[in-house]
Amino acid sequence: MKKYLNNSIKITVVAAVISFSSCKEKNGLAPEYMPDMYRSPSLETYVDYGELRGKQGNDSLRNVLNARKPVAGTIHRGFSPYPYANSIDGYNEAGEKLTSAIPYTEQSVAKGRELYGMFCVHCHGTTGQGDGSLIEREVFPPLPIKFNENLVLPEGKMFHSITYGKNLMGAHASQLNQEERWQLIHFIRVEFMKQALTANIVSTADTNVVAK
Ligand code: HEC
Repeated sequence: MKKYLNNSIKITVVAAVISFSSCKEKNGLAPEYMPDMYRSPSLETYVDYGELRGKQGNDSLRNVLNARKPVAGTIHRGFSPYPYANSIDGYNEAGEKLTSAIPYTEQSVAKGRELYGMFCVHCHGTTGQGDGSLIEREVFPPLPIKFNENLVLPEGKMFHSITYGKNLMGAHASQLNQEERWQLIHFIRVEFMKQALTANIVSTADTNVVAK
């Protein structure tokens, strides 16, 4: 019985020594029993791409973020690129080639009227003659432009100026999407420049209308 006891003590001691001494990795760190808990197998957006799960197979990927830059020419959802440059040439080109992307309708004019009251009226005024509150209170210089029948200004140039701004007028592309900019032009042309709505009228019931 005593012999058995001695043996079991010896076995316990040896097992303890083995288990303690085996608890070391070559690098001196404690072993990882569940490496997935330490190193996520999924790609993490802002983590070094070469560090995936501790594997460093491809050196060219070291210090490269997983989040990649979009390929050249990528545009964000809902954004329509505007092809004319912010220059005199771009302005003239837009005047020659750019026409309304949406049909003139009572709805587009009504929407334009609403937007005009929010974004433009304080300068261009309720009559479109530059009698906005900022001008009347003399906090902004008199406008060199009056929207009326005698104004010869192609819609493409109007769109260009609203997009990029012109001289003292600021750019409005960040506040108004392209459709809204066209709606504003429809309102200005029909209301102040007396363009006939029938010039490009399309039945609003027809949803397959292709832009002019
Ligand atoms: C802070 C005052 C101000 C506001 C706000 C403003 N404009 Fe203007 N706008 C001007 C001035 C000044 C000009 C004249 C620019 C020039 O030709 O020197 C102008 C010119 C224009 C022109 C003629 C551009 C051209 O090519 O000759 C259009 C069209 C126009 N504005 C539309 C709008 C619309 C639409 C809005 C509202 C979204 C608006 N503006 C808001 C000051 C303003």
